[in-house]
Amino acid sequence: ADEPLVLGIETSCDETGVGIVRGHTLLADAIASSVDEHARYGGVVPEVASRAHLEAMVPTIRRALKQAGVSARDLDGIAVTAGPGLAGALLVGVSAAKAYAYALGKPLYGVNHLASHICVDQLEHGALPEPTMALLVSGGHSSLLLAPDITGDVRPLGATIDDAAGEAFDKVARVLGLGFPGGPVIDRYAREGDPAAIAFPRGLTGGRDPLYDFSFSGLKTAVARWVEARRRDGHEVPVADVAASFQEAVVDVLTRKAIRACKDNGVDHLMIGGGVAANSRLRSLALERCEGAGIRLRVPRPGLCTDNGAMVAALGAEMVARGRAASAFDLPADSSLPL
Ligand code: KG4
Ligand code: ZN
Repeated sequence: ADEPLVLGIETSCDETGVGIVRGHTLLADAIASSVDEHARYGGVVPEVASRAHLEAMVPTIRRALKQAGVSARDLDGIAVTAGPGLAGALLVGVSAAKAYAYALGKPLYGVNHLASHICVDQLEHGALPEPTMALLVSGGHSSLLLAPDITGDVRPLGATIDDAAGEAFDKVARVLGLGFPGGPVIDRYAREGDPAAIAFPRGLTGGRDPLYDFSFSGLKTAVARWVEARRRDGHEVPVADVAASFQEAVVDVLTRKAIRACKDNGVDHLMIGGGVAANSRLRSLALERCEGAGIRLRVPRPGLCTDNGAMVAALGAEMVARGRAASAFDLPADSSLPL
């Protein structure tokens, strides 16, 4: 067991996540979510999230250590999400990581949230090939990333120019009156609906449009207009059909562009991560299209796709294994940390 034993802390949004890994082996994944406290506001309220992290931080760390059955003294490092994310929320995790690292005399590793969404797949499918092609789709991001080195060289090929994919799911769910977060509910309704019922627009897929960028704001507006017109005419809204047709428009564009990026860059595998990677239709369509294109698909199980501490620990362990420099104790929480 000379693989690095690392504890990871994630507090970039509304989940207080603490994970412990040894190399590519997941030992603990403790999570406390404040999502229910945000539901009544229809979105994550930063101040509410920060306060919830503060309350959950120490108990969640203790729970993870107990789950893993390891002593904090045996850790080879403490990793933490340094950004991007909500400033106040990040600060709670970064402060906790510094305190534990300092008190225990362990090296501290500040990591990028997006890179850890990719690295988590090592816990499920073993070492990632390099370069890695990743499609990251969450409430805050929709990016195509090419990573020659997951611990330090992750290049954005394209990103959303307006709403993130998860944000579009959340907004459409609100239009349909389905509550927050919208992704899982739309996923459920869509299973009963017809994805070809309504032809919603596919953003940025014209001949002159940027190849790897996304746009979901026009789609969201198209869905809202369609639903409003329907209500105005006094008709019932076919929620399942709207959900299925909207979802199909999103995952059609995501998979098409991701596979295009793999082909253009000579990469024979595709990793999909972030909360939206939990979407069942995205998973099935990506698999179908990857198989057709001779690309190996790697998607972690849904629990590892949404924000968690294990992904931070996974990237921290990779940094320790590669002898990457630890962070200084003045490591800042950076809400817009670039890759
Ligand atoms: O990665 P994540 O947990 O947090 C960040 O945004 O970083 O992603 C949360 C997003 C939310 O927008 C949620 O609606 C979406 O992921 N999501 C889904 C599904 N599960 C979660 N979207 C579509 N289908 C799902 N099954
Ligand atoms: Zn995330």
